[in-house]
Amino acid sequence: MKLAIIGTGNMGGAIARGLIAAGSWQAGDLLCTVKSDSGLSRLQATLPGVKAGRDNRQAAREADIILLAVKPWFIGSVIEEIRPVLDFKRQLIISVAAGISLCELEELLAAPEEAEKPILFRAIPNTAVEVLDGVTFICRQNATDEQTAQVHDLFAALGYTLVTDEQHLAAGTALASCGIAFAMRYIRAAMEGGVELGFRPEEAARIVEHTVHGAAGLLLQSGLHPEVAIDKVTTAGGITIRGLNAMERSGFTAAVIDGLKASR
Ligand SMILES: NC(=O)c1ccc[n+]([C@@H]2O[C@H](COP(=O)([O-])OP(=O)(O)OC[C@H]3O[C@@H](n4cnc5c(N)ncnc54)[C@H](OP(=O)(O)O)[C@@H]3O)[C@@H](O)[C@H]2O)c1
Repeated sequence: MKLAIIGTGNMGGAIARGLIAAGSWQAGDLLCTVKSDSGLSRLQATLPGVKAGRDNRQAAREADIILLAVKPWFIGSVIEEIRPVLDFKRQLIISVAAGISLCELEELLAAPEEAEKPILFRAIPNTAVEVLDGVTFICRQNATDEQTAQVHDLFAALGYTLVTDEQHLAAGTALASCGIAFAMRYIRAAMEGGVELGFRPEEAARIVEHTVHGAAGLLLQSGLHPEVAIDKVTTAGGITIRGLNAMERSGFTAAVIDGLKASR
């Protein structure tokens, strides 16, 4: 099985590194392309062992699964370039390009007289796929359950993966892709607070990173609602509830929800 990654930049590279780290793909089975000479040098340095190149057609011809990971505004020209070598009977096509719908992709891919329809997926992963703790949303067009399971399994090696309908992708992107930045902003804010409370910046950074990681781990392991888990660490009249209430007075929950709605 060969996977072509057309456009191996931040996201394509994160997926490739994640798949290799997870052990679900051998580097030699990944056919990774970029546009520029500098991109190719970077690719060879950061993803040793993959078949790196600039020939999209060759990569697409050899692959069983083709992952389109160029910027959205290059999707049309890349599809035009690889279209003559695609075989819709055997190849799955996945686009990670934000904002390009399955219908638009199908229109770009299919010639009007073409009887065979492309087996198409949109996947929206977040950058944490690189550390195998990502979130990926998948939706499909013209795909069987078996083909969908194949694409699900590809991303499931990189973290939590949800097959959903296309309408949910914008909300999913806000929650999980923008959510990485939102979570990091909380971490930065807590770090700055930690420094004011007397820790050195690097100590504060590690403390907060592990605290956030641990909080997520506790919820994932227990399946508890966060508020139930909060009750467990909140003593009546104690310091935790004072801190929580002070944060809420400054609009913590409302700020998070407003941010998510603005991103969507
Ligand atoms: N970053 C995220 O969190 C995220 C999340 C979900 C989805 N996405 C989607 O992922 C896609 C890529 O975003 P990115 O942040 O990874 O962009 P990026 O870092 O700029 O990577 C794009 C890559 O595409 C290559 N490229 C450009 N034109 C090409 C062509 N004609 N043939 C082959 N390769 C070509 C570039 O090559 P050079 O290196 O030579 O310039 C670059 O390596 C976007 O569509 C975006 O919507 C990103």
